[in-house]
Amino acid sequence: MKGIVLAGGSGSRLFPLTRALSKQLLPIYDKPMIFYPLSTLMLAGIRDILIVTTPADGPMYRTLLADGASWGISLTYAEQRQPDGVAQALVIGRDFLAGDSCCLILGDNLIYGDGLSEMMGRAIARPAGATIFAYRVVNPERYGVVTFGRDGRAIDLAEKPRAPRSDWAVIGLYFYDGSACARAARLKPSPRGELEITDLNADYLRDDALAVEKLGRGYAWFDTGTHESLLEAAEFVHTLEKRTGQKIGCLEEIAFRKGLIDAAALRQLAALYSKSDDGRYLERLAEEGPNA
Ligand code: TTP
Repeated sequence: MKGIVLAGGSGSRLFPLTRALSKQLLPIYDKPMIFYPLSTLMLAGIRDILIVTTPADGPMYRTLLADGASWGISLTYAEQRQPDGVAQALVIGRDFLAGDSCCLILGDNLIYGDGLSEMMGRAIARPAGATIFAYRVVNPERYGVVTFGRDGRAIDLAEKPRAPRSDWAVIGLYFYDGSACARAARLKPSPRGELEITDLNADYLRDDALAVEKLGRGYAWFDTGTHESLLEAAEFVHTLEKRTGQKIGCLEEIAFRKGLIDAAALRQLAALYSKSDDGRYLERLAEEGPNA
């Protein structure tokens, strides 16, 4: 299974913050936003990852993340010329995926909760079809919305419906089998001119090949595309990190715990951050070992 992080878009709801800087480089408390979706892919055990950016922003992502070797992963880059929709990531990523199954994650999504790795593991284990995740929200009209039938199975998907049939939003984390690129290539742009991920998911639903997992009360999901949600996500990370002394979305820590880098490599990374708390945090981790 390969991974794709979609980090393009125009970020227009965050103007003027995003006039000169890509949204996914903005800070969520103590890390750039893109670290959180990257950490989600790493927690799923995915190591081969494509980062899709705008042509203008590619160089900054390369400066920040390089080839991923310091975290024991492989990062490659592709450009999306215009923000023509989330599903276009699968058209752009066709050569990279080369027929493999994939996990697509939106660069502005932060997902946190005990059991997330297991849930992603179940999605990866499904031999065919797609798996998406639903989260109960108070403002479903801002998202793709999934409606469930009496038997709990998904019966309908709608993109930003004016009158949502349920309050279950589809989050920006999608697992697809090898047919996703061909399906995405057949999509037609929506009235707003985008290749909609909801249309791709609906294609799987029509074939009875879509699994929808509900994220219950024990999860937090933020899509950090507005000023309000950007601040809320930062407050969430700050509160949890301060209270527990453990970091959220720390790529070095995940790489170490997953055995992708050893203690010596972790210490080298810690030295980079010697002027911040991160340095001490990583030093302690190297001392205590990956299972502490
Ligand atoms: P959105 O938040 O839907 O769009 P946006 O980031 O352009 O922001 P705005 O609505 O404020 O103008 O995008 C969700 C995520 O997907 C975000 O991380 C950007 C990314 N994205 C792309 O990379 N390419 C695209 O064509 C689209 C639509 C989104």
